[in-house]
Amino acid sequence: MKNQSSTPNKSLKIKYANSQRLLETGNLSYEWAVRMMKIISKITEKYQRTKPLANFKLGFCLHITKETSVLVMAAKALGAQISICSANPLSVQPDIMEFLRYNEIEVFAKRDPSKIEFFENMIKLAKSNAHIITDDGGELHGIVHKRKIKGILAGTEQTTSGINRILSLKAKTGLNYPIIGVNNARSKHFFDNRYGTGQSTVYGLLKILGILIAGKHFVVCGYGWVGKGVSSCLRGLGARVTVTEVDPFKALEAYMDGFDVQRLEETLMKGDCFITCTGQRNVISRHDLEKLKNGVFLANAGHFDVEIDVDYLYAQNKQPIERRPYLESFDIKGKTINLIAKGRVINLVGVEGNSSEVMDLSFSNQLLSILYITKNYKNLAKDLHQVPTKIDEKVAQMALSSFGIKIDKLTKEQIEYHRQAFANF
Ligand SMILES: NC(=O)c1ccc[n+]([C@@H]2O[C@H](COP(=O)([O-])OP(=O)(O)OC[C@H]3O[C@@H](n4cnc5c(N)ncnc54)[C@H](O)[C@@H]3O)[C@@H](O)[C@H]2O)c1
Repeated sequence: MKNQSSTPNKSLKIKYANSQRLLETGNLSYEWAVRMMKIISKITEKYQRTKPLANFKLGFCLHITKETSVLVMAAKALGAQISICSANPLSVQPDIMEFLRYNEIEVFAKRDPSKIEFFENMIKLAKSNAHIITDDGGELHGIVHKRKIKGILAGTEQTTSGINRILSLKAKTGLNYPIIGVNNARSKHFFDNRYGTGQSTVYGLLKILGILIAGKHFVVCGYGWVGKGVSSCLRGLGARVTVTEVDPFKALEAYMDGFDVQRLEETLMKGDCFITCTGQRNVISRHDLEKLKNGVFLANAGHFDVEIDVDYLYAQNKQPIERRPYLESFDIKGKTINLIAKGRVINLVGVEGNSSEVMDLSFSNQLLSILYITKNYKNLAKDLHQVPTKIDEKVAQMALSSFGIKIDKLTKEQIEYHRQAFANF
């Protein structure tokens, strides 16, 4: 309906100006990320004429960042219809949301929603009649299975914790459709989880705290892909790093990589900053929280906000002091405990997530896996599948080319030598 009044509505004007500004920054952020994401741009170039996704509706449950907008716009250029919701309540970049909406993507998201709003948006996505769903964390796959939502041909999963959830779903009820575990591609977790999350976690710490890393004692819980990346970035900046682990092989690896390895219990009174990177719950429990030293910082780089017992902190102090954005101080038995980003994934809440170059590898795996699904879903068992090796290797090769690197190939003689060596076993 047209505005009948001759004087413009001031509040509408301000709202319009704000969304215009968001749209402009969203567009700039998208363009910046596209420049860095050369592999996905090449894939888009290759397929955009034939539009292989023209008959498919995609549902994405991802962190709404500039890199995600590149994946979404690539899928759109290949002909897909798309809906998206956020994989984390605090990882939504409002400018990207505005940019996606402007580009006719159905967005079910809000920055910092209530718990109910967050899950309502996921349910909306689950009911959006998507043929293929791409999840980050396995929560959407869980909802779709619990509500027995029909019409989904197949799915993909982005992260380690999501793969673990899918495996437990498979054991409990079986899967209703095939899922490709994109996280398990070597060209994904070797790089995104390690180099990407390592750097962006430390960037999150620097941005939120602005502290000097050199000389501080950090305790990194978990020496998987994320833990390795975080530990090595911290060491690079001069931190003293202690690793805690439950897996003897990973603990040994950390030790041989030159890190101090101890039981968590031994570190509680010493660490200046603890970072959980395990995908497990209650890694820093309420009993541990009470033993930490005064002024300690706590952060989490794992997918879910269950690694530190934040419920205990909020139960003790209903209104913690918000010292800086995403930094809350709690008084626990006379000691100050500083919690970063509410114990949610620090690199996606405090900063913009992993850098575009590394997300290029992850999201190229996603896009190629989606294309693979459109051709093969009828022949895929309702199970968790690996990214086909051909796709995984292609992404690694394309990444090398994007960095201008060429590598050697096995000679015919070497291939034959390898074949014969195996034949003798
Ligand atoms: N923040 C991000 O951008 C990002 C990126 C990738 C993965 N992730 C998430 O990070 C988490 C870790 O991922 P990953 O790929 O490193 O997994 P991983 O399986 O490679 O590593 C997890 C490690 O934690 C160890 N661990 C488990 N429980 C422990 C405990 N109580 N104490 C100490 N160590 C313990 C395990 O032994 C394992 O070595 C997952 O939740 C994953 O989804 C986050």
